[in-house]
Amino acid sequence: MVETSSHLSDLSRKVRFLLNIRDVLGTSFCGEVGCALSRSLESTDWIPAELMEPQLSSYRRSILYEDPTGFFAIAALTWAPGQATPIHDHQTWGAVGIVAGALRSETYVRQVDGELVKRGPDEVLVPGAVVLVQPVHPTLPDIHRLSSVTDEVSLSIHVYGCRLSEINRNLYPTQFWQYPVIGL
Ligand SMILES: [Fe+2]
Repeated sequence: MVETSSHLSDLSRKVRFLLNIRDVLGTSFCGEVGCALSRSLESTDWIPAELMEPQLSSYRRSILYEDPTGFFAIAALTWAPGQATPIHDHQTWGAVGIVAGALRSETYVRQVDGELVKRGPDEVLVPGAVVLVQPVHPTLPDIHRLSSVTDEVSLSIHVYGCRLSEINRNLYPTQFWQYPVIGL
């Protein structure tokens, strides 16, 4: 696990508090997590420089924090130019904040016949931007894809609603089928 400062402790404490009042927050819960993440990224000097070192094979995931309760975790993803996720979901809520570089965010909906269609226009996320994902939510997307769209190294911070090792990610490699994969 990467060593970080008290900023990460503050973010963890806020997310834990929001989880404690999730029943009260209802559908606004994920948005509140996004606000907490956004505030934590107002200053990025707490983020270790080592996270800006990409790997060649794929985007690199570094675990920053895993709550002892197992109800949420925080990770950093480091992206070399051109690296991308497949189209996927997480089967849990999540918030993604951009620290450096630029990422394209694509979101999809799965129709009853299994076909994936774009949920809306792609977004290019720059430092300070936060996007949310949550299954079975009236307005938030679930199925998505992120990809680096800059010649520089990109860095994003991800908060997810379970232990990172327990994310049951579905990939959507074609329009008509899916299979589960563990990971971000
Ligand atoms: Fe994702």
